Parts: sequence; C-alpha cells; structure tokens
Amino acid sequence: MKTYKLLVLFILLMGIIPSSCNKVEKQDSILPLTETPILEENGTIALQRPDTTLGLNVMRAFYHRKSAKSYDEKKEVSIEMLSNVLWAGFGVNRSEFGKRTAPSAYNAQDIDLYVCMKEGVYIYFPQDFELRLIEKKDVRQDIAANQLYAWNAPISIVLVSNINRFPYAIEKKERLKAAIMNACYVSANIGLFCASVGLATTPRADLDIDRISAALHLNESQIPILSNPIGYE
Ligand SMILES: Cc1cc2nc3c(=O)[nH]c(=O)nc-3n(C[C@H](O)[C@H](O)[C@H](O)COP(=O)(O)O)c2cc1C
Repeated sequence: MKTYKLLVLFILLMGIIPSSCNKVEKQDSILPLTETPILEENGTIALQRPDTTLGLNVMRAFYHRKSAKSYDEKKEVSIEMLSNVLWAGFGVNRSEFGKRTAPSAYNAQDIDLYVCMKEGVYIYFPQDFELRLIEKKDVRQDIAANQLYAWNAPISIVLVSNINRFPYAIEKKERLKAAIMNACYVSANIGLFCASVGLATTPRADLDIDRISAALHLNESQIPILSNPIGYE
C-alpha cells in the first residue's frame, strides 16, 4: 500500500514539475529591443515584463502631463516602451489575484486594449505579456478619423469595454456608465506613464464608433470608449 502511494505521488510530481518549469522559461524569455515590432509566425508579439524603475517620480510626471496635439510620424515607439505603456494602462500587477494596474467597477476588468500599428491590429493579453494579431491591416486612420493630428502617431490604442463582463444583474445603462469610468482610469494611467518617460499621448473620445467597430471586428457587446495615440511630439 505504501509503495502504491509513493508511486501515485511520483506520477503526480512528474505531471506538475515540467509545466512549472515551462512557466519559468516563458517568463524569462525577453525579446531584444527593436525599434519596430517583430511579427512572430503565429501572429503574436511577445511583450517585455514591466520595468518598475522606469520614468520620473509621480509628482514630476504630473508636472509634465499634457494632451499632445501633434505627433512626429518618423519617431517609432520601441517594444520596451509599448510593453510598459500597456502594463501601466491595464497590466496585471497582482498576479495571485489576477488584479490590474487600474481599478474597475465591480472588478469587471471590462476594458480590452486594442493596439493599432502599421503592421496590423492586435489585442493585449496582459496575463501572457503578449499582443495577439487580429488582422494585418493598418487601421490607424479609421481610429483617428477626422482628428488629423492623430493620424501620424505610430500607435493608436483603443480602449474597448466588453460590457458582457459586468455582473448579470447590472442594467445596461449602469454598465455603460461604469465602462466610461473604467476606460478613463486606464487612459489616465497611460497618460501619466507617457508623461513620465517623455512619450506623447492624448485621451480621445471623438471616435467614429461604427468605423472603429468595423476596423477592430467588434461585436455588439464591445464598445470603443477612448483612444490614446502613442508616439513622440
Ligand atoms: C474624456 C476626454 C476626452 C477627450 N477627447 C479628446 C478628443 O477627442 N480629441 C482631442 O484632441 N482631445 C481630447 N481630449 C483632450 C482635451 O482636449 C485636453 O485634455 C484638454 O484640452 C486639456 O488639455 P491638457 O490635457 O493638455 O491639459 C479629451 C480629454 C478627455 C479627458
């Protein structure tokens, strides 16, 4: 009986150890810094872990915060910077609870970050430090629409609320209100981080919802709330 128990324990351990080893390996694999994103064969872009030593202190960042109204189209944003922008915006900062860098009403975590670049449209998967490809298409003009200055930003992040993530009992009107507030927190995080590292951004609510929904392939429960162009002035 004792040998039988030892055998079961051994089999269980064999199952657990290799999978935890893989996790460590994945966490340690960091892309070399590049000025343009690397498109992996399977359509994902590996992001870097956040650098929590980066940037000015919070009071200095407030001092520099502003909404940029021009972007230099020639100045690219590195993967390192993009990784940190996304983590500051709505990354996972308490992985043991799956909680995030921005608060959300009902902890619905309804805001998805769509990342639109020359190479295509991606969605941010914060738990996996990954961008997953939605479509290889440059839709930045659909996001900027008639706000011409935003066309030049190398990256446009769209904050999309999936209002299905709110608790069942919450009415639609309340969900929409919470979605707007939740997106503002994410956008504010992005704005403060950008100010702290010299990146330019603008919270933009003037969106063509139909055009953006088509460009990002959104369904009826997904509402674009704000867009943050990211780049350098
Ligand atoms: C909720 C919200 C929506 C905004 N929408 C737009 C917008 O659609 N387009 C734009 O150019 N700026 C937009 N702004 C930026 C404002 O124009 C800007 O915050 C304001 O002029 C004050 O400038 P500052 O942010 O540099 O202090 C928005 C700001 C907020 C808070």
